Amino acid sequence: METSRIPGFYNMTVDERRQLLGTMNLFTEENTEYLFSKDPLPTDTADNMIENVIGTFPLPLGLGLNFLINGKDYCIPMAIEEPSVVASASHIAKIVRNTGGFTTEATDRVMTGQIQVVGCPDFNAAKETIMKEKDALIEAANNAYPSLMKRGGGAEDLEVRLLNGESDSKYGQMLILHLYINTCDAMGANMVNTMAESLAPVVEDLTDGKVYLRILSNYPDRCLARARCVIPPDMLQTSDFSGEEVRDGVIHAYEFAASDPYRAVTHNKGIMNGIDPVVIATGNDWRAVEAGAHAHAARDGMYTSMTVWSKDEEGNLVGELELPMSVGTVGGSIRVHPIAKLAHKLLNVDSAQELAGVIVAVGLAQNLGALKALATDGIQKGHMALHSRSVAIAAGATGEMIDMISERLIDEKEIRVGKAKELVEEYKK
Ligand code: MEV
Repeated sequence: METSRIPGFYNMTVDERRQLLGTMNLFTEENTEYLFSKDPLPTDTADNMIENVIGTFPLPLGLGLNFLINGKDYCIPMAIEEPSVVASASHIAKIVRNTGGFTTEATDRVMTGQIQVVGCPDFNAAKETIMKEKDALIEAANNAYPSLMKRGGGAEDLEVRLLNGESDSKYGQMLILHLYINTCDAMGANMVNTMAESLAPVVEDLTDGKVYLRILSNYPDRCLARARCVIPPDMLQTSDFSGEEVRDGVIHAYEFAASDPYRAVTHNKGIMNGIDPVVIATGNDWRAVEAGAHAHAARDGMYTSMTVWSKDEEGNLVGELELPMSVGTVGGSIRVHPIAKLAHKLLNVDSAQELAGVIVAVGLAQNLGALKALATDGIQKGHMALHSRSVAIAAGATGEMIDMISERLIDEKEIRVGKAKELVEEYKK
């Protein structure tokens, strides 16, 4: 992708947008056929993905534009039903690209497998025995999934946690073995579960206990991605607010979320507004990403803001977001879902780490979009503008008619398709 700046994309028809993408050599003919197809996820394919299939459930697929991340341009596929999200992310990305873009980084993709052991005669001794056999256990885990080592990944570390050791504990004592596995470019749930299950008999022998659960943890705190942006206040200025006012409003909004779980939930929902659509479009497990993100937001014992917004010495607004990001670029539904395949092609990422960085950058942009609006005009103004446009289009408005009718609907405080149809008729006369 040479650039993700496509001026006027917003005002094109869907066909014009598709044609433009075609001329940019993003897709092969086969790819565009899927986009134009009325049935991009064939029922047969769906039937092989889950049980009891009766159909498919389409969502709008939009493109987040203007994203410059670590010096590379991205057009970001976003599958979402909520208006304003794609527009807001693209608006903020446009501001941030003028200041050098987002910077991101991601750790190795190390997932966590958990093995639960109960009934050990001596939990401390069991922990010691396991730690003595650490290397042998890691090797045994790797033998259960040898192909992963060939790809440069595999089990690489192990830890033991003892839970509920206190005499007044409400729950039974247990030993929890954490197996850390680099799953390379795969989300890796199957790999992790296979390895964890394979260790169960030997763990029972070593601990004299009984193994119950052997499963991946959806809080992969060794698989993190971070995004950062630095924005001079003059770039935040609007017609009614100075850049400094916007910057300070964003920081106050952040401090509200940082200190109040009731606000943090909504603040973080706005971040996930950006993250989930990319996770969904790329065929990844958004429930896993959601669960891990919220756990990370509560890692210090209180549920708080996922992002941090501050002012640096030059007065710039600085935004940061760190989240666990268990996404993959290979395997699972990515291999079978035609639109997910297309989304990966469009994103043009070389690794799951790169994808994780892109996703957190979108989350950070989305958060700033929401906070900037909330701390200034409020979000309804933008929402209404977008909503009235789609009402105008639904009523048959095209071209320049769309904006004119949309403005009239807002001015007359009647954003209804019936009213828009009347205005379309009036316009045509
Ligand atoms: C709406 O989907 C998301 C927001 O509520 C997020 C926020 O309040 O920060 C606008």
